[in-house]
Amino acid sequence: MSDEAFDRQEWPDADRLPRHVAVIMDGNGRWAESRNLPKIAGHRAGTDAARTTIECCGRLGIEALTLYSFSTENWNRPPEEVEALMGLILEMLPGEQDELMRRGVRFRMIGDREGMPGRVMKAIEAAEARTAGNTRLTLNIALNYGGRQELVHAMHTLGERIASGEIRPDQIDEAMVSSTLWTAGLPDPDLLIRTAGEMRISNFLLWQISYAEIVVDERRWPDFDEAAMAEALRAYARRDRRFGARPDESTTG
Ligand code: IPE
Ligand code: IPE
Ligand code: MG
Repeated sequence: MSDEAFDRQEWPDADRLPRHVAVIMDGNGRWAESRNLPKIAGHRAGTDAARTTIECCGRLGIEALTLYSFSTENWNRPPEEVEALMGLILEMLPGEQDELMRRGVRFRMIGDREGMPGRVMKAIEAAEARTAGNTRLTLNIALNYGGRQELVHAMHTLGERIASGEIRPDQIDEAMVSSTLWTAGLPDPDLLIRTAGEMRISNFLLWQISYAEIVVDERRWPDFDEAAMAEALRAYARRDRRFGARPDESTTG
């Protein structure tokens, strides 16, 4: 695919692009296994697909991209794999920052920071600080992330605000809940992509995906390339988003 192919001006469905894309990057293990490689080789290969996806979203002027990189449940994996994944993040972060700066990407972590290894958090905070002023694309890396944990965290915050007398319980509305989540300030994902064919949510963005369009791609994450991204965006553009209301006459019949 040529460079222009991901230019917003030339994109055929530019008026039907999602504002926020969320991705469950799955299948690194199966990719490695099918090549008789160790699992970490799959995770490493997956970083190239992540880079490609960031680049596509940046070029198309998509506002936000959220990549599910490590769930709260992923701590239950073998310690060597957890260690290798954390090591991979630590290894990638400093090197990727120049590229993020060049592309105008604001990098942020969403997830529970308390449970993260200190040295990884230090590198993440450095990347967040350096890219804080960028405005083209917000890149959320979901690390030590769980949708239920995020909601519990938000409930603690709101509970404290009630206990201190700052708000009354009946003042809590959807906007207040949204602004108490780790994704505060961002539009909800319009498009949720999951690779490797699995049709489940795995505790990802439970509140935020209430009306997301879901695209499940059979490719394993390391094989998710520009063509795959273009396919997912085209599938999204063809969807008739109803939000519970009547069908959109412009896309049906
Ligand atoms: C996704 O790949 C990456 C993480 C969850 C960190 P997997 O490691 O889950 O790959 P499969 O599902 O075993 O193929
Ligand atoms: C979801 O993938 C988490 C990430 C992609 C980081 P998993 O591979 O952990 O999900 P399950 O176990 O198949 O539900
Ligand atoms: Mg998996």
